[in-house]
Amino acid sequence: MITELLKVDPSTEEGKALIRRAADCIRRGGLVVFPTETVYGLGADGTNAEAAKKIYEAKGRPSDNPLIIHIADPEDAALYAQVGDLYECLARAFMPGPLTVVMPAKESVPLQTRGGLSTVAVRCPSHPLARLLIRYAGVCIAAPSANLSGKPSPTDARQVAEDMDGRVDMILDDGSSDFGLESTIVKIDGETLTLLRPGKITPEQIEAVTERKLSISDAVTAKLKEGEAAPSPGMKYRHYAPAAPVTLLDGDAEKCIAYMKARAEMPIGIIAYDEEVPLYRAAFSDATVYAFGKREDELMQAHRLFAILRRADKDGLVHIYAPLPRKQGIGLALYNRMIRAASHNIVKL
Ligand code: TXA
Ligand code: MG
Repeated sequence: MITELLKVDPSTEEGKALIRRAADCIRRGGLVVFPTETVYGLGADGTNAEAAKKIYEAKGRPSDNPLIIHIADPEDAALYAQVGDLYECLARAFMPGPLTVVMPAKESVPLQTRGGLSTVAVRCPSHPLARLLIRYAGVCIAAPSANLSGKPSPTDARQVAEDMDGRVDMILDDGSSDFGLESTIVKIDGETLTLLRPGKITPEQIEAVTERKLSISDAVTAKLKEGEAAPSPGMKYRHYAPAAPVTLLDGDAEKCIAYMKARAEMPIGIIAYDEEVPLYRAAFSDATVYAFGKREDELMQAHRLFAILRRADKDGLVHIYAPLPRKQGIGLALYNRMIRAASHNIVKL
């Protein structure tokens, strides 16, 4: 398959014409990669079972791992899911935006799109290009992150092309993703709310607007036990991990340096807060040090994490070290992705 890679500015007439062409492609059952405010998505008609099959093939993804459907307006959720007051409350507060809500599905979403489940995950992105694409397509767009299964989600079109060139009809490029980690996923089950994946919308924010307790699925911070059923099928798959082993170090820079020196592996990669980059560069002349953003700037860290993991994979390292994020606020989203990249390998110093 020949993939068209198109730079698109959704605020111009030329840009809108390209988005219309991409929407036609989706209506005909094609695959279109598009930007969102979280990460790039690999989109197809969410009401077409054959198109869902093509998504799984292009990603090399197991077909029991369900897809998120993307809608242009929060009200459209009622076409695809059984929505109630809790959905309305979350939608008013956070949509359009980086929140996905899991609810009982309606028949209009084929089982293939939902990975065989009775529920469906719904998200209304805020990115202008994504919203136009969905509106012009006139159907919901099923879209997982546009990476090959197991790799970090792509946050710009170059990363998308590395994984998807030759596997999709079109890649729409509108620069780098604003947030850089995937959406927060919340499941509504009657009156119960469960966090399945942390993201930019934090547990604290969700509890404040719903005035309800949000239970955090164990799989967000811990390792699933052998044979344990995952509340979200995606949690059971290996994710984000570069070829070199990753270790998360929980301690100050001085202790981290002593630990890494004692292990004497070379070449290593170090993901470091900006304030500590000079320290690590001075301590290890032949390490590759990646600037992660300032210690307090979790938005910058979220924005950079996946690009750093992809870079580190190409830099021929034998080991990668990174700091252990905190578990509050956006830190929880970083923690969740980084413990997976590290296969839960955490060292307390
Ligand atoms: O930010 C995002 O959410 C991006 C952009 C493209 O919108 N999409 C994304 O999709 O991250 P994906 O497929 O890479 O991750 C979706 C996760 C998977 O772990 C999947 O198992 C889970 O959502 N999921 C989807 N439907 C579900 C359902 N009905 N119940 C529980 N988990 C579900
Ligand atoms: Mg994904």
